[in-house]
Amino acid sequence: MARSRPMSRWTLFLSFVVLIACIVVPGVTVKHENFKTCQQSGFCKRNRALADNASAQGASWSSPYELDPATIHFKDGQLNGILIKTTSTHEKLRLPVTVSFLESGAARIIVDEEKRLKGDIEIRHDSKANKKRYDETEKWVIVGGLEVSKSATLNAQTETGFTNILYGPEDKFQAIIRHAPFEVEFQRDGETHVQINHQGLLNMEHWRPKVEHQEGESPEEEGTWWEESFGGNTDSKPRGPESVGLDVTFPGYNHVFGIPEHADSLSLRETRGGPGNHEQPYRLYNSDVFEYELNSPMTLYGAIPFMQAHRKDSTVGVFWLNAAETWIDIVKEAANSNPLSMSAHSKTNTKTHWFSEAGRIDLFVFLGPTPQDISKTYGQLTGYTQLPQHFAIAYHQCRWNYVTDEDVKEVDAKFDKYQIPYDVIWLDLEYTDDRKYFTWDPLTFPNPKGMQEKLDESERKLVVLIDPHIKNKDDYFVSQELKSKNLAVLNKDGEIYDGWCWPGSSNWVDCFNPASFPWWSSLHKFDKFKGSLSNLFIWNDMNEPSVFNGPETTMPKDNLHFGNWEHRDVHNVNGITLVNATYQAMLERKKGEVRRPFILTRSYYAGAQRMSAMWTGDNQATWEHLGASLPMVLTNGIAGFPFAGADVGGFFHNPDKDLLTRWYQAGIWYPFFRAHAHIDTRRREPYLISEPHRTIISQAIRLRYQLLPAWYTAFHEASVNGTPIVRPQYYVFPDNEAGFAIDDQLYLGATGLLAKPVVTEDTFTTTIYIADDEKYYDYFDFTVYQGAGKRHTVPAPEDKIPLLIQGGHIVPRRDRPRRSSALMRWDPYTLILTLNKKGEAEGSLYVDDGETFDYERGAYIHRQFQYSDSVLSSENLGTKGAKTAEYLKTMAGVTVERVVIIDPPKEWKDKSTVVIVEDGAKTGSTAVLEYYEQESGKASYAVVKSPNVGIGKTWRIEF
Ligand code: NOJ
Repeated sequence: MARSRPMSRWTLFLSFVVLIACIVVPGVTVKHENFKTCQQSGFCKRNRALADNASAQGASWSSPYELDPATIHFKDGQLNGILIKTTSTHEKLRLPVTVSFLESGAARIIVDEEKRLKGDIEIRHDSKANKKRYDETEKWVIVGGLEVSKSATLNAQTETGFTNILYGPEDKFQAIIRHAPFEVEFQRDGETHVQINHQGLLNMEHWRPKVEHQEGESPEEEGTWWEESFGGNTDSKPRGPESVGLDVTFPGYNHVFGIPEHADSLSLRETRGGPGNHEQPYRLYNSDVFEYELNSPMTLYGAIPFMQAHRKDSTVGVFWLNAAETWIDIVKEAANSNPLSMSAHSKTNTKTHWFSEAGRIDLFVFLGPTPQDISKTYGQLTGYTQLPQHFAIAYHQCRWNYVTDEDVKEVDAKFDKYQIPYDVIWLDLEYTDDRKYFTWDPLTFPNPKGMQEKLDESERKLVVLIDPHIKNKDDYFVSQELKSKNLAVLNKDGEIYDGWCWPGSSNWVDCFNPASFPWWSSLHKFDKFKGSLSNLFIWNDMNEPSVFNGPETTMPKDNLHFGNWEHRDVHNVNGITLVNATYQAMLERKKGEVRRPFILTRSYYAGAQRMSAMWTGDNQATWEHLGASLPMVLTNGIAGFPFAGADVGGFFHNPDKDLLTRWYQAGIWYPFFRAHAHIDTRRREPYLISEPHRTIISQAIRLRYQLLPAWYTAFHEASVNGTPIVRPQYYVFPDNEAGFAIDDQLYLGATGLLAKPVVTEDTFTTTIYIADDEKYYDYFDFTVYQGAGKRHTVPAPEDKIPLLIQGGHIVPRRDRPRRSSALMRWDPYTLILTLNKKGEAEGSLYVDDGETFDYERGAYIHRQFQYSDSVLSSENLGTKGAKTAEYLKTMAGVTVERVVIIDPPKEWKDKSTVVIVEDGAKTGSTAVLEYYEQESGKASYAVVKSPNVGIGKTWRIEF
């Protein structure tokens, strides 16, 4: 063996360079070998093989599932029957199917397995795993919208071999159910929009006993049926293969959106290879993916199996309610290759294929026709966004870690010194005593109360991290209670599962167990979580759950939860069970002190929007990650969980000043706006950044604060009808095809504000796509842009955020800079008004105390602003409740201090006053109107000075 030579100086130098490069060059990427590809996941491989086989056989392929006509029973909006699956050995298996037609216009298809429902199966390895297919996902996810439509009827004109049901608004929808092979075609107004099992990929892997074969004689197909190993872990799979799969075709639809969480474009790509396409299906298996990669279908921390398909003038959707590991293949084909798609719109059919490792088939179908309809109907099922406390939509300052309570106070003071507003400071992991949650490090945080009291002087809040892994230590009271109350997740042998996470050896609270809720609540009480005050809120991290030594950094799939459900059955809802428990705990912290909880969660599933905000996890300080954050946040909004953001500045590595500045300018458009950084990074609080960047960043944060009234109004809208808070182009202009794939510009609610953050280096001009022929005005200097279906070049020097406002809007804002958003509570409003082509404008404002649930009893102001025929008016949109009068009284002194009209009628040049009529008074007062002309290219503007009309009042301003 050759002896290694001592390193030459040159080699030493090179090694040093490489080492430094490894440390400083960001952009390192995920360890692929830690996560399964489809080929490495037995059920994924099998379902893809089924699809390959079907496509190879073409027209001669026939799905082996038939609806037995003798079993069909339709009553009160629900069809029940038995699907017969014929196996390759000619066995006939009975699969109960239910198709429900809901009042909301959605339809729901559930398929289960009779043998498993009856418990008529054997489970291997003496496992205690539940014999049923998991049917409790909806317990965590669905909160309403399940009323069946009694007016759904059988269509009398149905051919034999079919059962057709008319349903939906004015019977415009029809489900055409073919019995053999089983297929459902969903029509709206006589046109097919969604096809189920049209490709014949319906698959329910039925239970079967394991047949012991002679050595070497196992049939190849059984290779992935039983035990499965990956990365040194073996999954015992006590129930054998049990996956479910189904194809969903959207004929004539070119774009599909949704199914977060992936670091990918808004418009989802094809997944079966080819230029620009993915090779792998989109995967949903909540995971702690270290240094995740971009433009990838790889799984991330959260999963919402909800997809919208969109084409000109029509949006439809599906929701695959399954909590197990799920993969989704997407293929697009030219519609003309398929004689089925004769519709005038058709250019492309999008074919999707969904499969999950366990559970039932449970699919909701939404027929739109608008994106708003889909958001609304989906939200009726899974709930709308929580109306958060007002502070939660302001700026959050986080890092891993602020190291002492004095450090926190110093950061707090520095923000004030540099006059940068912020509302919340965060404590990561290290505030705890030895990573034991519900405790404080006695050396570094000796006085947590004093720290919180200091923050409260400016009505600021503290958020602390509480993770679901509990340090396995005898002298830790939480660990003792977890064990003595039997509330921990168990391993496959029924013993407390022990894994490795931040505290070292840990156990996990099993929030599937109802008894965990009162216990978790007790831990959050002020007398138990000593040192916590009512301005402290919670960050639930690592709840995928992340297990450092577990398979794919999570729990073994054969672990057992309450009810003997395998972890396999419930993995994707695991995260939200914790959030549910924390939400309950926050409500119960102290009697009589009920405030809206604020919880940030990393892991999520459909329904998380009711309780929490999310962020996109551990991103990196690179321009590419900054760019990726926009489609990720937009996608979450489309999928019903719009309270979303990304770590501003990037979590790993150190952003340079330019990147950090641009990131703040983009981050102010995330509904959840928080800066965060890894423990190994340099401090980067905005006041530490040298000029001119400090001022530029401060201005960006102030712009967020100025527009908080518009943001809160958008949050309110999301909380009542599910619309995204920031909206992509297709959502706002659903008939403008050229805009469908655009995912780097966004609209704030219904305000007409259109932002295009700069996400590339050394970029000082950008283009903004405008869909319609209204005028758009630069928000800051009123430069006019007009021209439909075109990209307009917009200057974007580093101190400028490309931001336009469409003609026809009235945007409420507050212009007085304050230290925190709560301190703006009594500030007056400014209204910004732009006229559309008809010379009209509208907008709205929602306000409440931003803290309590009193708004549920009418303690809010909701106004509609309208401008037409030279009159600006404010009308009440709110319904009255028990607390309305009292709330209005508290807001009596809050007025509109200014109205700015951009591009007003030329005649106003000669006007100097306007007439103000409040509360239907007969005579009005006057206010001064000033008119300002600008150089050509920039719109002139007029300002109504001090109209001082009450924000909660009905009034008119006559121009
Ligand atoms: C992982 C989270 O994603 C990150 O934001 C946090 O700082 C670390 N856990 C430490 O708690």
